[in-house]
Amino acid sequence: MKMTNCLIIGHGAREHAIGEALAKAGVDLYAFMSFKNAGLDELSNNRIIIHSETDFEEIINFCKNNKIDFVVIGPEDPLCKGIVNRLEDNGIPCVGPKIEAAKIEGSKIFMRELLEKYNIKSNIKSKKFNSLDGVEEYIDSNGEETIVVKPDGLTGGKGVKVYGDHLFSKEDILTYCEEIIKNNDNFILEEKIDGEEFTLQTFVDGKNVIGTPLVQDHKRAFENDDGPNTGGMGSYSIEDHLLPFITKDDINDALNDMKEVVNAIRIETGVKYKGFLYGQFIKTSNGIKIIEFNARLGDPEAMNILPLLKTNFLDICKGIINENLNFTIEFEKKATVCKYLAPEGYPISPKKDELVEINDKEISKIGARYYYASVYKKGENIFTTSSRAMGVLGISNSLEEAENIAEKAVGFIKGKLFHRKDIGTRSLLQKRINHMSSLQN
Ligand code: GLY
Repeated sequence: MKMTNCLIIGHGAREHAIGEALAKAGVDLYAFMSFKNAGLDELSNNRIIIHSETDFEEIINFCKNNKIDFVVIGPEDPLCKGIVNRLEDNGIPCVGPKIEAAKIEGSKIFMRELLEKYNIKSNIKSKKFNSLDGVEEYIDSNGEETIVVKPDGLTGGKGVKVYGDHLFSKEDILTYCEEIIKNNDNFILEEKIDGEEFTLQTFVDGKNVIGTPLVQDHKRAFENDDGPNTGGMGSYSIEDHLLPFITKDDINDALNDMKEVVNAIRIETGVKYKGFLYGQFIKTSNGIKIIEFNARLGDPEAMNILPLLKTNFLDICKGIINENLNFTIEFEKKATVCKYLAPEGYPISPKKDELVEINDKEISKIGARYYYASVYKKGENIFTTSSRAMGVLGISNSLEEAENIAEKAVGFIKGKLFHRKDIGTRSLLQKRINHMSSLQN
């Protein structure tokens, strides 16, 4: 029987989880990444290339030389630079949107304008700026305490600054806006929203938009949601695939808006959205609102959904590519807790090039899984970079058990690392529930 040769692009824990799902689905896995992910190295039997993930010529050559049947793109950078257009022009099918459609993540201004034009229900008030002209007037008329500043382009999740969290006066807001303009970017000022965030990740074939279990991520570096914003310190999902502060109607509203956005992208750009579409929503006292879309799976959130798949992931990828994702996609009814270990000092002054020691045997005994993130393999050893290092995942019948498994497994990874002990705990979940009820009352 002819095997399917599949290439995964990207070097992080999300890509490790995607590679794991592909390998489980029976593909022959290949990997192309900017530094060596030890998990993908093993899953692909060393069929890997370490090279820039945006050198499209090299990727095309690699695909041709290895008779790659299709490519899955993990991170946003190559998507927003047009990797799918280039690969598909060379006859190589992809799971990921073309540049025109990936703009839903690549440009915050494009995203808000699209939502406004197509009257998407969960949209919020915003205004775009390409200079400081009119910024002070906008702040004065709306009140500085209502302001969120977002650079237009990609910032690796670290560009958004919120009044009260990162900006504490009108001067702070103006200074940050000036900094963005000096960096040759534009920005939008958005309404600050109070509520509880949730992530809805979907599989999209151009028309069908299939939802997956809801996940909640934790952006702040330290326990009790303290400290600077990060790429995400960990996430959880619950065995009923819902969250206790989100109703089925909220999910239907969110999914409906995502379907309308996919449709709007097709009408507006002439390009069908195909790949993964990530919706970051917030539930407020006034219904759900959209914070942002990503043209990819979430990191860490991919780790909360892919390991639960009961449907073959290869069939899902083929469904996306062939535009016939018209079957039911099933997930195990289990809870998951993912905790990220990050280098000490992350995200401000992370300790780089530090040894990470993983006790694989003990972690397996507990029944936990782990995913290599921004660490690199040199010889037989693993070292930190300046970003999140290892994702540790507990899966079980209840959130408590899943959290317990993840927390125990963290103890078997040694190095100059830290993690948030509170992610997935009952007390943090209760805090979220109480926050939501206080807003609703
Ligand atoms: N967890 C946030 C993101 O993937 O963008």
